[in-house]
Amino acid sequence: MSNYHIKHLEEYFQVYRKSVRYPEVFWEEVAEEHFLWRKKWDKVLEWDFTKPEIKWFQGAKLNITENCLDKHLYVRGDKTAILFEPNNPNEEAQHITYKQLHEKVCKFANVLKSKGIQKGDRVIIYLPMIPELAVSVLACARIGAIHSVVFAGFSSTALSTRVNDCQAKMVITSDGSYRGAKTIDLKGIVDEGLEDCPTVENVLVAKRINTNIEMKSGRDYWLQPLLDEASAECNPEIMDAEDPLFILYTSGSTGRPKGMLHTTGGYMVYTAYTFKNVFQYKENDIYWCTADIGWITGHSYIVYGPLANGATTVMFEGVPSYPDYGRFWDIVEKHKITQFYTAPTAIRALAKENLDFVNKYELSSLRVLGTVGEPINEEAWHWYNDNIGDKKCPIVDTWWQTETGGILISPVPFSTPTKPTYATLPLPGIQPTLMDENGKEIKGNSVEGRLCIKFPWPSIARTIWGDHERYKNTYFSAFDNKYFTGDGALRDEVGYYRITGRVDDVIIVSGHNLGTAPIEDSINEHPAVAESAIVGFPHDVKGNALYGYVILKETGEVRDRDNLRKEINQLITDHIGPIAKLNKIQFVPGLPKTRSGKIMRRILRKIASKDTSNLGDTSTLLNPEVVELIMKEAL
Ligand code: WTA
Repeated sequence: MSNYHIKHLEEYFQVYRKSVRYPEVFWEEVAEEHFLWRKKWDKVLEWDFTKPEIKWFQGAKLNITENCLDKHLYVRGDKTAILFEPNNPNEEAQHITYKQLHEKVCKFANVLKSKGIQKGDRVIIYLPMIPELAVSVLACARIGAIHSVVFAGFSSTALSTRVNDCQAKMVITSDGSYRGAKTIDLKGIVDEGLEDCPTVENVLVAKRINTNIEMKSGRDYWLQPLLDEASAECNPEIMDAEDPLFILYTSGSTGRPKGMLHTTGGYMVYTAYTFKNVFQYKENDIYWCTADIGWITGHSYIVYGPLANGATTVMFEGVPSYPDYGRFWDIVEKHKITQFYTAPTAIRALAKENLDFVNKYELSSLRVLGTVGEPINEEAWHWYNDNIGDKKCPIVDTWWQTETGGILISPVPFSTPTKPTYATLPLPGIQPTLMDENGKEIKGNSVEGRLCIKFPWPSIARTIWGDHERYKNTYFSAFDNKYFTGDGALRDEVGYYRITGRVDDVIIVSGHNLGTAPIEDSINEHPAVAESAIVGFPHDVKGNALYGYVILKETGEVRDRDNLRKEINQLITDHIGPIAKLNKIQFVPGLPKTRSGKIMRRILRKIASKDTSNLGDTSTLLNPEVVELIMKEAL
């Protein structure tokens, strides 16, 4: 039996039991089976959740790109590593082989070096979904620079906050990007964002839309001429297993994003292992994850996990609605996709459209379907199962987080029987538990609580960049000696997990994590606004949409409410990006608060979702009368 590849349910249980009983033996065997190490570890695991400190494969030396590229050159050098499908269906797809990708990465890595980037330097990558994005990520890893990809839909302010937080020395971007029928001026956003970023020395610019842009002399360089001159040989920097690999920012409950830091050895082992098992990847499969590499899903399951397994991984530049709502299925047919991994919000959006968009295409190449990012509702699950999978493809509902680095709870296809809306069982090595509000572990089945993990796994984030205290407070303080996920979950009668949603101030909109605090901070910058509170409410496509309660300053001035709404949404777009815009904005005379001054979001959530039958006891509020007033004018 190989620990690396699970093929049936009995094997899953055997492997799981072993992984929990002897975690170190288990992970050591996995790590030995499939990877290139320049030196093996002295110790598999050292951990202490109270500090918190977690170290995997200490003493080991490696470079992750040797595992993603060099390892494959002799066995599958001419196999497609990255299959790039452009935004415009009439533009030809690119098949980049492992050999070609290796060469591109080495050249890019040499360009980085020529611009003074060294091991440990931070490089911000702000690129659309074009091959240069994957190549630049790997080029950083090749030389030990720490990449931090910022989703190219984020605003200039969001970009500069991240650049400054990690003190990046370089930004990599493009002259612009395509998004359906639109083009976006990425370089303009970068120029604006960098006005106040003293640490950035250079900006490398890839050409994508061929527009005229301004290049700041001495700072900005076109990428292509530098690549043309660069050598195609670049020895990998030999890294310690615990050396940083990347920082990826995620929202938290304060205005400042959290730079989750992932390290090299454990992250590689875990993403490779879970990719193999969750997608049951076989040598000639064509795997497609529709996420953007700006999110963790793209890092782990477009780039590192698939490439470490020698897979063919598709990168799609466009959107599901362009040129029409059949685009995803067109791509599935065109490239004979075998594994398709997407988000519930995309499924819901596509399920609203005419089924002809699906039925026009031949989808019989599909073998496994996946979802990630938010709970999938029953209706969307069945639509996906019936129309896309033809009831033949297991759906892997994969639960995980930016912080966890890889999938923690998911069916293993063809082994674990699936159940609609359930992420089902923990993967090997993962020890989930449910906790009650008093910090006690809830035993047994048919129970509900807060989801925690009791034991470390190799790809857990090691810290928040520059703020270890916040890391400790956010994840390891709510419950003794456990990693707290921020999610609620239930465990059914057979032990299957279903994630019910966030229990903190993070709202998931269209699969994107949004903290309420930064949105409220943006709104409060409006000169007419005194205070605001954001909550989520159910939305049939986005999963959740945002509802803002806004108190205006009392100036006696009469203002046009619709204009104010527009201005508020513009502020949010400028500070965070269009994904954080509010669907509804209600102007209110006050916000319900506890006597200690904390906004009672529970009540606001109920009003926003039109569920006011049971508001609970409001008499303990500082201002109970305001609840009635808000309810009367609810949107
Ligand atoms: C939510 C995305 C239900 C959850 C990989 C988690 C899910 C947050 C699922 C992390 C799922 C992710 N079912 N909820 N299958 N997958 N979530 O950091 O609330 O962008 O805490 O990572 O998304 O979002 P993040």
